[in-house]
Amino acid sequence: MKKSNSSRNYNIAVIGGDGTGPEVIRESIKVMDASAKKNAFKLNYTMLDYGGERYLKSKKTISDSELNALRKYDAILLGAIGHPKVAPGILERGILLKTRFGLDQYINLRPVKLYPGVDTPLKDKGPKDIDFVVVRENTEGLYVGEGKFINKGKKNEIALQVSRNSRKGVERCIRYAFEFTRKRNKRKKLTLCAKTNVLTYAHDLWWRVFQEVAKEYKDVTTDYAHVDATCMWMVKNPEWFDVIVTDNMFGDIITDLGAMIQGGMGIAAGGNINPEGVSMFEPIGGSAPKYTGLNVINPLAAIAAGGMLLEEVGESAAAQKIEKSVMQVCTKLKSMGAGKMGYSTTQVGDLVVKGL
Ligand code: IPM
Ligand code: MN
Repeated sequence: MKKSNSSRNYNIAVIGGDGTGPEVIRESIKVMDASAKKNAFKLNYTMLDYGGERYLKSKKTISDSELNALRKYDAILLGAIGHPKVAPGILERGILLKTRFGLDQYINLRPVKLYPGVDTPLKDKGPKDIDFVVVRENTEGLYVGEGKFINKGKKNEIALQVSRNSRKGVERCIRYAFEFTRKRNKRKKLTLCAKTNVLTYAHDLWWRVFQEVAKEYKDVTTDYAHVDATCMWMVKNPEWFDVIVTDNMFGDIITDLGAMIQGGMGIAAGGNINPEGVSMFEPIGGSAPKYTGLNVINPLAAIAAGGMLLEEVGESAAAQKIEKSVMQVCTKLKSMGAGKMGYSTTQVGDLVVKGL
């Protein structure tokens, strides 16, 4: 939680989760611990076993009391959720989305930054071209799980899936994005990514609120792009973007594209942020079950997520050093892909520690 924690003593809940989640989180903790030592603050971890394995034994995802207990931490570090033996949706909705929604982590912050030495599939684009941040709304939209079947199973079946966009939810997200763009202080340009030409209710609201809030941020240049065009520009001219604000579903989709142009899931990190509450940080990739236990998965995304966590709790200097070290390590790896780094998972963690 963002509070003036003058003791600089932070309690972190750790959910390693499924597949390679625990392996990458181990490296993230290794780096955070080294950073804490160097920067004279203290981290206490509580390891939680929420995930697919526990679900298979107990049919439990996260109970309401467990969710409530998460409120007392300064932050949460999450590895990955998703288990091949559990039907899709159960763990995602029961653990990941339940936490995002329950702790009102209404921002999903996803930097898309190509570090020097990392390969991008974009021809002729380099680190100076690919450096923007997506501010994804994280508690509403199509993710609310509202809808119904009409005539289920029949020939004339209809399925409805509601996108819920509250004035409050849209406004706080857009405000956060403007504030963030101002503080980031790069090109001071905020692009609204939506689909106003088709989603004439939901994104009409987004459009109106965006225009309205913009009046309070005269120093920020505003822009608009439909989501399809956003995908096109992200590939063709990624340098046009500084900060993008968008709804939950579009944010989900464009940040996978973002992860690819910044070098892959091995390097992409994000934060589920409640600016007034408890935030949760995670590598944005999945549990990668086929690599579990092989010590080949890239931990840099999880390590970067740990850096974002430290930034959020107020340890900016430590966070910056972690990012610097991650950048240096990037120039040493052969590739960002699992099994292709030229180093093992644990060795990459050690390299980042050394670089601190
Ligand atoms: C993500 C993931 C989740 C999402 C899934 C696992 C529910 O894809 O964090 O982007 O859609 O938000
Ligand atoms: Mn996703």
